[in-house]
Amino acid sequence: MDKIQKLVEEHVGFLIVFTLIVISIAGLAEIVPLAFQKSTTEPVAGVKPYTALQLTGRDIFIREGCYTCHSQMIRPFRAETERYGHYSVAGESVYDHPFQWGSKRTGPDLARVGGRYSDEWHRVHLTNPRDVVPESNMPAFPWLAKNLADADGVAAKMKALRIVGVPYTDKEIAEGKAEVEGKSELDAVIAYLQSLGLALKNVR
Ligand code: HEC
Repeated sequence: MDKIQKLVEEHVGFLIVFTLIVISIAGLAEIVPLAFQKSTTEPVAGVKPYTALQLTGRDIFIREGCYTCHSQMIRPFRAETERYGHYSVAGESVYDHPFQWGSKRTGPDLARVGGRYSDEWHRVHLTNPRDVVPESNMPAFPWLAKNLADADGVAAKMKALRIVGVPYTDKEIAEGKAEVEGKSELDAVIAYLQSLGLALKNVR
């Protein structure tokens, strides 16, 4: 044992290799179970897959880079839960591919923004935030109201998500296009925002 210790302490190469081995084993022991635990793989009661319109809105949210200013991860601290509601749990994001947790907060966390404002408030806010929040430095997204949401692509997206475990039925996929058709990108983003965090909305 002494010999091994001497070797490791005197040769930095060994020290690096052994350190990596120790960290990898510890890492695996912590990370691998997460892929199998119910609390991280099963949806919390009330969490449903996004509808076709919400899903379309989610992709626009990603395209516009909303996540660069808005996290969707309420941390389990008093200051956070007082402001935003129940802290985020893994079972709320099982249908999110990729998840939108983030950590950069130029604006407020959006994990539970669903139902906080009316659709009309969002409509005005996204078109020009300063019309409802005068001191806001959020950019305006006026083109969302003018662009039609992509109805043709949604069925393929739902099929792809089904492959990674989102339980869409054939019927939901078949009806996806009709749900999105004729809606603006703004409608889709609002549908997405209004769906966020409802499962644990009234849990304190
Ligand atoms: C440059 C940073 C930035 C970007 C990008 C951004 N926001 Fe914001 N957002 C803010 C700030 C700052 C606020 C707080 C002031 C306000 O309400 O306008 C805010 C507020 C909000 C609110 C109100 C949240 C609440 O609880 O009051 C919503 C909803 C929102 N943003 C949605 C979006 C969406 C959707 C996008 C993408 C289309 C987006 N934001 C892009 C900075 C940003």
